[in-house]
Amino acid sequence: MTVRINPSILTADFANLQSEVERVHNADALHVDVMDNHFVPNLTFGPTMVGRLQEVSPVPLDVHLMITDVDRWAPGYAELGAFSVTFHAEATDDPVALARRLRQLGARAGLAVKPGTPIEPYLELLPEFDQFLVMTVEPGFGGQNFMEEMLPKIRKMRDAVESRDDVSLWLQVDGGISPSTIEMASEAGADTFVAGSSVYQSADPVKAIENLRAIAEAHPHVH
Ligand code: DX5
Ligand code: ZN
Repeated sequence: MTVRINPSILTADFANLQSEVERVHNADALHVDVMDNHFVPNLTFGPTMVGRLQEVSPVPLDVHLMITDVDRWAPGYAELGAFSVTFHAEATDDPVALARRLRQLGARAGLAVKPGTPIEPYLELLPEFDQFLVMTVEPGFGGQNFMEEMLPKIRKMRDAVESRDDVSLWLQVDGGISPSTIEMASEAGADTFVAGSSVYQSADPVKAIENLRAIAEAHPHVH
């Protein structure tokens, strides 16, 4: 299983985004948290800002939409060139239609669930997706503690992915990922790790990314 480390710019210095993005050039993708003050009680950036990030980022963009009305807004992020666009299952009645639209526009389609949302209703839909995001904090803010009670959900999703030939999605975790928590997330079956504060609040983000990668690679999933 390939390990991917995607730093989240949520805890970067918003006054210097271009240099902040360049600081994580060894990442697999840049995780961009779009929040609308409605789906979550926090507000970040929209398509204009993400479009500029797309132009200056040395790595592809992994857009995480924490917004309502995704059917209206998500395709725009694929159109501006985002490598991956993940929307929340709680924000649409027709996740498959939206995933198909995103893929048609050339993006990887991702589905996310909040900690309180079960994965079972979505297992049948997995062939329609390229990524599944299990939130390991309540979405909205960086710097929260990893919820260990999400580990069984990660294991269940890994089992579901492994049990089917028509599913090859990346299993992402987001929230509280640090050198002390990435080991359990990796062992549970995650392969794509979002890390905000543990990368951007370290003195050397490049080293922080390499360290996270090394720990995850040393602790692969075992059945
Ligand atoms: C939280 C965001 C995360 C956040 C993670 O709602 O989705 O991507 O940036 O930050 P840390 O790694 O600090 O928990
Ligand atoms: Zn996120």
